[in-house]
Amino acid sequence: MENRGLLAGKVAIITGAAGGIGAATAELMLARGASVVLADIAFDRAQQLAGRLGENCWPVELDLASEESIKAMVEKAVSHFGRLDILHNNAAALGPDIAEADGDVEHMQTRIWDMAFTVNCRGSMIATREALPHLVQSKGCVINTVSNLALQGHVIQAAYSASKAAIIQMTRSVAASHGRKGVRANAVAPGMTMTPALKEAFPPHIRKLVEDETLRDQLGEPEDIAEVAAFLASDAARNITGQVIVADGGLASHVPGIAGFMALGDN
Ligand SMILES: NC(=O)c1ccc[n+]([C@@H]2O[C@H](COP(=O)([O-])OP(=O)(O)OC[C@H]3O[C@@H](n4cnc5c(N)ncnc54)[C@H](O)[C@@H]3O)[C@@H](O)[C@H]2O)c1
Repeated sequence: MENRGLLAGKVAIITGAAGGIGAATAELMLARGASVVLADIAFDRAQQLAGRLGENCWPVELDLASEESIKAMVEKAVSHFGRLDILHNNAAALGPDIAEADGDVEHMQTRIWDMAFTVNCRGSMIATREALPHLVQSKGCVINTVSNLALQGHVIQAAYSASKAAIIQMTRSVAASHGRKGVRANAVAPGMTMTPALKEAFPPHIRKLVEDETLRDQLGEPEDIAEVAAFLASDAARNITGQVIVADGGLASHVPGIAGFMALGDN
């Protein structure tokens, strides 16, 4: 409860707010006193969420593939709430069909690569560019949701991973260029996180492969990522900028193959 007012008076835009991590983050930021713009291409779900979360949030239709749509989102947020303190670039082009098509580079379809970079990376850049003049005024911050896959190699999702790695570097660039103007920029890198969309995209036997290599006894929940984003958005994180906070239950913290070693210990 002592965290309740940590974001009091602040205005946040969350992209992909209708999704698992975005919705959990919106709920937590609202609970901590922020007003939140719920931006998503799935406008019907954003509206439903706004209905559930009640006052101080506002659904806005957003297509991150469209520069005009992104500019309109920032303008609407500022004209509706009068200021902007937090930009959470959280949306990504995801879903079972995209995950299925996004494999290794040898088999990469150019359209899958372009989609990942257009929506995830270019979209986050444009949103950040449009938000920065307002964030300079408010001494605000940018939070980018990236992924553990941006930090380590894998046999899957080469396009997604590369687009998220590019966002990490953009995070550092913004932190460097705008730090002295009072703006912080950080990223949160979730490991596999149990959103409804994730459960649909990855069946239990795939999730088990990750679970076995995780140091907790369960995969992360959307609320685990929301906690990191809400902390980074608050003045409690005023000395943190240009960083990637990995929230993956320890998945990336150890030598690969630990599951096999743990099984040896069981014998
Ligand atoms: N869930 C995980 O395991 C996991 C792991 C690592 C990183 N992430 C990252 O977390 C973030 C949130 O993902 P999630 O797990 O909540 O997924 P999700 O699919 O539940 O949410 C993603 C949201 O983005 C929206 N979106 C997609 N394309 C868009 C576009 N063109 N314009 C605007 N909105 C668009 C979708 O409608 C959806 O509501 C993403 O950046 C994802 O890459 C998730």
